[in-house]
Amino acid sequence: MADPSLPTVLVSTADRFVSAAADAIATRIANVIEARGRCRLVLAGGGTPRPIYEALVGREDVAWSAVDFFWGDERAVGPDHEQSNYRMAREALLDPLGVSDAHVFRIEGERSAAEACDAYAVTLGDSPLDVVLLGMGGDGHTASLFPGDPASVEMTAAVVVTLSPKPPAVRISLSLSTINAAKHVVLLVAGSGKAERLAQVWRELADGPQLPAARVRPTDGELLWLLDDAAAAALPQQVIP
Ligand code: 6PG
Repeated sequence: MADPSLPTVLVSTADRFVSAAADAIATRIANVIEARGRCRLVLAGGGTPRPIYEALVGREDVAWSAVDFFWGDERAVGPDHEQSNYRMAREALLDPLGVSDAHVFRIEGERSAAEACDAYAVTLGDSPLDVVLLGMGGDGHTASLFPGDPASVEMTAAVVVTLSPKPPAVRISLSLSTINAAKHVVLLVAGSGKAERLAQVWRELADGPQLPAARVRPTDGELLWLLDDAAAAALPQQVIP
């Protein structure tokens, strides 16, 4: 019997990572839609997801009109800013799919961070999110939950304001409690530069989580790590299927 507190780990070669991730994500979105009629999908920012979003555009096995799009985090910038996570997803996924604005729920980074944070908590409502996509930074951060930031372990608020060591400093992020209440949490990690940190995260799953990425453990939902072989290289051999 697999240990339910550990992630399901899928490792792909670098040339297959994007298509394997798109397959796994599309399958989960389609299953949620089949079960519930709609899917509340949370998009990640950064560089790893972009080619995966572009690959998802071609997926005809997903009823995209039944998906409501949210974000795991946003920089305190406007929607057209080059560092906006919303802008990246709009360019790579939403515009190519022709998604109606009625189903797009972005974090308003142009507002004061506190206002954007409070407003997004209202937007999210009380229902658990269905599929949450996350990346992991080289320091073990995920979404915009950063090591050492007290807001990164906030378990009451649904959305938090955090400070990134890299600019733009001010971020708005789903809290750990919101992420861990989701039905499917998918961590997307690629590249050799993440390998040692990911191995530390894996150890912390057993020894007691310290890093934000190690604290991502859905209460009742699925935790899926989608890795390329470079990012998985330092994991214990038995972890790599
Ligand atoms: C962001 C992301 C952030 C990202 C990691 C990994 O706003 O930048 O939410 O958490 O997922 O920093 O970024 P890469 O995929 O570019 O390595």
